[in-house]
Formats: sequence, C-alpha cells, structure tokens
Amino acid sequence: MKTTVGLLGCGHVGSGVAKMLLEDHDFINEKMGWPLALAKIAVRRPQADRPYNPPADFLTTDPYQIVGNREIQVVVELLGGLEPARTLALEAIESGQHLVTANKALLAHHGREIFAAAARHKVEVLFEAAVAGGIPIIRTLKEGLSANRFRHIFGILNGTTNYILTRMTRDGLTFQAALAEAQAAGYAEADPTLDVEGLDAAHKLILLTALAYGTLPALESLHVEGITRLTPEDIAYARELGYVIKLLAVSARDEDGRLEVRLHPAMLPRTHILAEISGPLNAVLVSGHAVGDVLLNGAGAGMMPTASSVLADLMDLARTDRVNSTSRVPSLGWSILRDEPVKLMSETKTAYYLRFTVADRPGVLAAIAKLLAERGISLAQVIQKNPLPGQESVNLVMLTHLAQEKNLMAALADSDRLETVLAPTRLIRVETRL
Ligand code: HSE
Repeated sequence: MKTTVGLLGCGHVGSGVAKMLLEDHDFINEKMGWPLALAKIAVRRPQADRPYNPPADFLTTDPYQIVGNREIQVVVELLGGLEPARTLALEAIESGQHLVTANKALLAHHGREIFAAAARHKVEVLFEAAVAGGIPIIRTLKEGLSANRFRHIFGILNGTTNYILTRMTRDGLTFQAALAEAQAAGYAEADPTLDVEGLDAAHKLILLTALAYGTLPALESLHVEGITRLTPEDIAYARELGYVIKLLAVSARDEDGRLEVRLHPAMLPRTHILAEISGPLNAVLVSGHAVGDVLLNGAGAGMMPTASSVLADLMDLARTDRVNSTSRVPSLGWSILRDEPVKLMSETKTAYYLRFTVADRPGVLAAIAKLLAERGISLAQVIQKNPLPGQESVNLVMLTHLAQEKNLMAALADSDRLETVLAPTRLIRVETRL
C-alpha cells in the first residue's frame, strides 16, 4: 500500500515538490513507514526548463490524467490564480481525492465552496504552503494552539514588500528603486501588483482569520492598502520618532469583542521583535489567552521552503490514508464556520502619523491643531523642520494618541481644505498594541 500524488503545475514550487518527492522518497518512507509516491505532473509546456527537471515520463499536458484518476489519492494544485484552479480543485474533491494547495487567492475567494465540497465528499483540503511559505503557521493555529482563544494575530505575510521596505528603511531607496532591485533579485514577480498593493498578504490574512476565529471574511469587507505610496521621507520621520514601517496584517478581537481584520502599512516601535524581521522573511505573532505570545518567523516564499510545507501536508494525508480515517481535524480547525461581520475601518481606533505639507506662516500649526481638537484628536508629538533653501513648503509631522478613524478622516478632510495646506496629507497608522 502507498499514497499516490499528482501535481497540477510544475513552476517554482512544483519543481521543489517534485524534487522532494523523488529525491527524499526513502527518507519519507523510513520516517512514516508508508510510501508517498509521485505519479504524474500536469504542465502546460513539457519542454520548459525548470528549476528542477523531473524525468519526462512524469509529465503530461492533460490535467485529467490526475484529476479523477482513481489511482491517485492526492491532487496538489500549484497552478496559482482562480481558473482553471477552482474547477480542477472542485472536480478532484468531487471525485474523492484529497486536495493540497498553495493557492491563497483560490481559498480566499472560493474557500467556502471548496471547504464545503470537501466536507460533503469526506476528503481533506490542506494548505500549509498558502500562508507564509515554509512557516508552519496553519498547523500551529489549527492544532498546536487549538485550545486558545486568540486576542490578536499580527503578521508580516509578504516577502516582496518586506524586502522593499527593508531596502527603503536601511538605505533610503525610493519605492521604485527598491522594487526594481527586488525584481532583479527574483523576489518580486514581473507584475508585482498583487504583492505591492497588499492583496497577496490580504488573501493570507483571510485564511489566518478563518483558522483563528472560525469565520472566513470576504476580501471586500477588509481594509487593504499596499506600500506604493510610502516615501523615504516618511520612513525617515518614522525612524526619528522611534518607529519602523512594515506592511502589517492584523486580525484581532477588539475590547468590545468585535473582529478587526485589516492590512496596511503600520508603524511599529523600532525595538519590537517584528520590526527586526527583515528582507524577504515573513513572521506571525499570535497571542492566545492560554499560551500568551508565540512568534514564528522564517522563509515566506521560495521553492524549497514552500515545498517543505506542501510535503508536510502530503505526509499528513499519507498518515490519514494509512489509518483510513478522513477529516481528523476539519480543514480550518472548526467544525462550523460562522458569518461574523468585520468591524468597519471607520470605527477602528489606532494612533496616527500625519505629515502635512504646509506653507511656513504664522498660525498654520494652530489652525490644524484646532481642527484635530474639534474632532477629539489629541496630539502626542509634533515635528517641524526648517524649509530647505528655495522651498515654499515645510513638512509638519504629528503623532496622535488613539483616535477613531472616522474622526481622523473628517479632520483631515477639513484641514486639507485650508489654503495653507499645500498637498494631500499623508497618513500612516501606528500599531499601539505592539
Ligand atoms: N509573492 C509572495 C511574497 C509569495 O513575496 O511573499 C507568495 O505568496
């Protein structure tokens, strides 16, 4: 007896998975006492040169040699994107095959449909590789910490943006220069939109929220903001104020028990451990009512780290197969998923960094401070530098105490109408729970 695996896709991650299945076969067998066998790999271009080239007789251009094939117990979907990944995943599930996927977009958009189909057909959907690459955060939430009620989860969930922000922070690069470098280094895709606009990390955040809180929020219900508008100037002011800027994923219960799920650049205290997570690394900080704080960090992407997570899922399924017992733990760790609304961003409270571009004239600071005070917003710090020679405008930088987003936005709408405010005000949220 053995567990047989078919791969859909053999790009970067697929190559790593094929390599491990073929080269580490004896080690895995020895460890589990049960073989895990690669049967077929469906690809679009069999002749393509891959980071690892499996023997040609494993390759097929027909996904239906894998999907629906009774000799193959597990389908590993590594195509990425929504279609044909969704159709093939559902067909595999409906034909009684387990599904392993690294596709966060697929699960964030179609998770309800896919997990429901898996429950109906009594098969498993495992997705350790879909969040934070090689970091075993899914199993940690689903099993290791399953007895905890979670206070909050903070994540750095995208390696490309963390690399870009690290270069902007350490070396003063502009966003565009750091992005070009990330592309040259192979971290960023040719089309980096999903990464830099925050969507890739938001997909992962949706999955972490489902695991922690038993609800799978719709992407449209979250505040998602990328890093494209950050400037070296703001990063330098943040440093002066004692902070580092990260693209931060937040999933938390607020003090009133409501669910906050948001993804945006945030200022973290420079001394906080998440501020130290640099380059393409990912990290997740989880706070459970019983365990306290747990931090996981490591490679959030890359061929072999991501393959490591896929193999962990495959070994898990092989164990399931061996004892012939499916769904030992539900896919998201919860027997029932609830529909819980996510708190509106306008109701969220954080502290704020504000950078006003103003005319250097008497009364400008007083006028802005008055508008903020009228909305109940209290200032913690203010910085103003002398204008550079030949410049009309100066930066007026403020750090607020905790404020409600709708009050802050209303105050900024008023202040940006002042004749002495010369450009739209820049805002970065400050995470005060860290
Ligand atoms: N492009 C992602 C990152 C990895 O840069 O972290 C895949 O989600």
